[in-house]
Amino acid sequence: MSKNHALISDLVKIHGNQRRSLLPILQGVYEQTHYISDEAIVEIARQFDLSSADVYGKATFYSYLSTVPLGKYVIRVCKTIVCDMHKKKLIVDALEHLLKIKMGETTHNREFTLLYTNCLGWCHKGPAMLVNDDVYTELTPDKVRDIITHYKKLGYKESDYAR
Ligand code: FES
Repeated sequence: MSKNHALISDLVKIHGNQRRSLLPILQGVYEQTHYISDEAIVEIARQFDLSSADVYGKATFYSYLSTVPLGKYVIRVCKTIVCDMHKKKLIVDALEHLLKIKMGETTHNREFTLLYTNCLGWCHKGPAMLVNDDVYTELTPDKVRDIITHYKKLGYKESDYAR
């Protein structure tokens, strides 16, 4: 039995395999593997008796899910105009420099991914970004360096991924 099969079977035991359970199942797979692979899509479709196209459509509809491998820590920098005016560019430059990747890329060890996102609702405290579910506001290059150091200290190992 593949890891995806076991993981999805466990999630189906919790959430069921009705169409309304599709999103929690996709979220569960994403949380464990940091993306939704083709293999997972096929397995979900099989267990839900849906087409793979149906499942793929749902998996690609939400910006917080991904069908390409992302890092353990997904950094989403607000790209909307108020953060732009609050010198978002300095934050992006600091992140790209610290992580040695460009926006849209993932570090080779899959520890960090850099993405843009739309307004996070913290415009009055911009520039703002998310690291997974945690929001950071009033960013400066120094603050960004401390945040990255914090996540690096949390550690990373290949076994963080239930591939
Ligand atoms: Fe960046 Fe709203 S414009 S949080």
